[in-house]
Amino acid sequence: MCGIVGFTGLQAAAPMLLEGLKRLEYRGYDSAGIAVFGDGKIRTERATGRLENLCIQTQDGTAVPGACGIGHTRWATHGAPTEYNAHPHLSNDGKFAVVHNGIIENYAALREELMAHGYVFQSETDTEVVAHLLEMYYHGDLKSAVMKTVSRLEGSWALGILCADYPDRLVAVRYASPLILGIGVEENYFASDVTALIGHTRNVVYLEDGEFAELSPGKITVYDCVGAECKKTPVRVNWSMEAAEKGGYDHFMLKEIMEQPRALKAAIEPRIKGGRVVPDGIEMPQQWLEGISRIVITACGSAYHAGCVGRYVIEQLCRVPVQVEVASELRYRNPIIDEHVLVIVISQSGETADTIAAMKECKARGARTLAIVNVVNSTIAKLADDVMYTWAGPEIAVATTKGYTTQVAVLTMLAVYLADRLGRIDEAEYQKLVAGISALPERCQRSIDLNPHMDRLARKYHRHNALFFIGRNLDYAVCLEASLKLKEISYLHSEAYAAGELKHGTIALIEEGRPVVALCCHDALFDKMMANIKEVKARGAQVMGVAIEGDRRILAEADDVVFVPAADPMLLPISEVIPMQLFAYYVAKENGCDIDKPKNLAKSVTVE
Ligand code: AGP
Repeated sequence: MCGIVGFTGLQAAAPMLLEGLKRLEYRGYDSAGIAVFGDGKIRTERATGRLENLCIQTQDGTAVPGACGIGHTRWATHGAPTEYNAHPHLSNDGKFAVVHNGIIENYAALREELMAHGYVFQSETDTEVVAHLLEMYYHGDLKSAVMKTVSRLEGSWALGILCADYPDRLVAVRYASPLILGIGVEENYFASDVTALIGHTRNVVYLEDGEFAELSPGKITVYDCVGAECKKTPVRVNWSMEAAEKGGYDHFMLKEIMEQPRALKAAIEPRIKGGRVVPDGIEMPQQWLEGISRIVITACGSAYHAGCVGRYVIEQLCRVPVQVEVASELRYRNPIIDEHVLVIVISQSGETADTIAAMKECKARGARTLAIVNVVNSTIAKLADDVMYTWAGPEIAVATTKGYTTQVAVLTMLAVYLADRLGRIDEAEYQKLVAGISALPERCQRSIDLNPHMDRLARKYHRHNALFFIGRNLDYAVCLEASLKLKEISYLHSEAYAAGELKHGTIALIEEGRPVVALCCHDALFDKMMANIKEVKARGAQVMGVAIEGDRRILAEADDVVFVPAADPMLLPISEVIPMQLFAYYVAKENGCDIDKPKNLAKSVTVE
């Protein structure tokens, strides 16, 4: 996700744009830029890295004259975070400047068409096609050119447009990416969210999908998708600045939990075309793939836990041996790895020191590496032979949520893709899994709807220490992540155990009142789990049972029950982990913990 802003009024635009971008920097921060109409032309200034670099380059905007402009802070999706890929993008005739938040999914075809018409591209981005389409369709009527341009786009966009022939006018266009208009006195604004506006005005207009607006210093006109003027009622925003950055949620972690349906959609939709899994960024030769001896997955923390889910799914579908290794262990154990091994490296930040080191050890031994990362052009992404981005958008909370679930979704798509290439999956199962993967965002939303129930359970269990999370097979892999979430934000001690392991020692720790969360969604092992629940209850445990909605068998033994949406067994981890994320969040909130910045932790562990 990126952030866009626009300003038109009587005072200098550039400082206003930079201030607005500062408020949006949490939406993306690998490059930034502004375009301002001044001295008879559009001037652009762009810089890679943090927004501070652009502020220095423009002397906090004072070096850029003009009272009408647009700005952008980028979270790269198409094209590395470089200066030439930074927004705003210009048309060849310099008459149009464009900023964009979203993904133009048909940009490749449009790019080809525009190049055939002689337009010269300066970047690798999807956004640049918009600038050239505007030039192609503009014959003096800005509104008509905007409508014709937008009619050619597929995907999602919040667009800010500047045209040199209309020096005090902005155009804002919204489709599937948020865009809000700010109403000032002799000045008007637009922005990706209210955070960038409430320092200047609390009177805003939320554009709806398909609507677009023309803004000048004293007037805002909103049009519907067919170009008819539509009346919009301004809304007064009463949020504090801090609340606005969190989209009205109390913490970034809760905001990011709630964002998971959208994050999963961003991770899945571009990779499922015509009922097939079509992963980008994989050039794995068929002969090499058919010759692999095994797959090694390496990562740290929650990324390692996503790998534990991936191990079950890939082994089940591809019938290739998979081992999952904590990176800090793999890097130092002189691993037996050669050119016949595929190493999957998972990392949200793409900068975790142990994971980078483990990856380099594997590469030095000849392994082919495939990275599953969120940050475009991160160190791990650049080191890998193949890359699959999770496209979850910036994740601010130290405790990962959407980072983890999008990793699991990408691993599942990879498993289906590899199984198909290896001829290990029949068409009926393939189609069933593809349908289930496509339905994950909707299922994720239904898990999120358990929010109030998990809040209630958290109030019941939040004083307990030493909780157990037990499960078998994929449920055990989810227990690992559920336990870490609780520990890292609530500081309560908990442990995840393979349920079959309890009798080998740890059941000695079960005593009266000990909370045990039993994940019982793996149907084939349900009876075994019920036996484990009976074992711990016989020793006084309180059991929270997690089962598939409608499986009432769990009610016979569990003290509390969480029913999660049904799904193919391979796809259940995402349904199950979300209530566990919410449980950890509400326990930590009950205990007054600093949820977004837990003690002793960092968002990216770039040191050993
Ligand atoms: C997860 O909530 C933690 N923040 C931590 O375990 C994290 O997953 C781990 O440090 C790996 O980070 P990465 O995904 O950026 O490599």
